[in-house]
Amino acid sequence: MSDPDQPGDTGEPKPPIEPAMDTPSGAPGVSGAAEAGSVAHAETPLPAPPQAETGARRGRILAIANQKGGVGKTTTTINLATALAAVGQAVLIVDLDPQANATTGLGLPPKGDRYNAYDLLVGAATLAETAQKTIVPGLDIIPTTVDLAGAEIELVGLERREYRLRDAIEGQCGAWDFVLIDCPPSLGLLTLNALTAAEAVLVPLQCEYYALEGISHLIRTIERVKNNFNQKLEVQGVVLTMFDKRNTLSTAVADDARRFFGNKVYETVIPRNVRVSEAPSFGKPVLLYDLHCAGSQAYVHLAGEVIRRERVLASIEQQAA
Ligand SMILES: Nc1ncnc2c1ncn2[C@@H]1O[C@H](COP(=O)(O)OP(=O)(O)OP(=O)(O)O)[C@@H](O)[C@H]1O
Ligand SMILES: [Mg+2]
Repeated sequence: MSDPDQPGDTGEPKPPIEPAMDTPSGAPGVSGAAEAGSVAHAETPLPAPPQAETGARRGRILAIANQKGGVGKTTTTINLATALAAVGQAVLIVDLDPQANATTGLGLPPKGDRYNAYDLLVGAATLAETAQKTIVPGLDIIPTTVDLAGAEIELVGLERREYRLRDAIEGQCGAWDFVLIDCPPSLGLLTLNALTAAEAVLVPLQCEYYALEGISHLIRTIERVKNNFNQKLEVQGVVLTMFDKRNTLSTAVADDARRFFGNKVYETVIPRNVRVSEAPSFGKPVLLYDLHCAGSQAYVHLAGEVIRRERVLASIEQQAA
């Protein structure tokens, strides 16, 4: 299977890049970062200097949200997280979607025997008990199982139902530079919990027909969360996903999105790329499956932009303080 749109994508299987397995959790994987970095250097400059020089804040919590299904939330969560880890950032993914795609996409079983996001939300386990290592050095995950679907109903009857995730993780994320929350395709209580716990939202927008449909609903929800539960919430950015340059519709959607969101839209556009869609079936981020493909390179660039925006936001905040 090949993606004719991607010149670098020959369709030939390439040897996967194996990550170092012995890197301690929470500590950026030097060998993984160097490996990813060196190859990335061959085609594109590394996106950012290592953590100490980024100027970004520790434990920055970003929700990856869009209530529309299949727009690239999980793909962006996994691959942005991997690209951030590859440049020395310590990253935690919180899989808040009962479909468990971020969990399985990182090679973890969908029904593991460890504590998971459900336990965290209902108060049965702590953040430290639920976070576990992944195959990517420097990237940890709070996995999920289908049990989380039940949590959405159970949460309704619990105290501080919109604050369950925030209460469980606030002030405890200092071991990581970034915490990325993969949201389900709805604006229900799980997404509300993610938006209440997050400091910023990253919105993946698929370059397809009806991409902007429902966006005003998402924006209203973000505003509602901001007014009622989480004053500091802001939109970090909008990432255009599955862009197909052969398709004029993709360009039209991208133009519309840039008109609507202005400079909130990242310059990096994630191309439709068959390697990106193949990687989860191997339980790997695309950066480990095929670092050279256009999809991997795009996520490396996106990580650079995210870090640069964080640096700007942090300095604005510092000046205001
Ligand atoms: N850049 C891409 N190129 C090709 N396929 C992609 C790309 N990004 C995502 N996909 C594929 O599109 C499908 C949907 O992506 P993904 O699961 O990330 O979306 P989602 O928004 O998380 O979905 P859901 O709303 O169900 O959680 C998946 O099969 C994924 O492999
Ligand atoms: Mg998903």
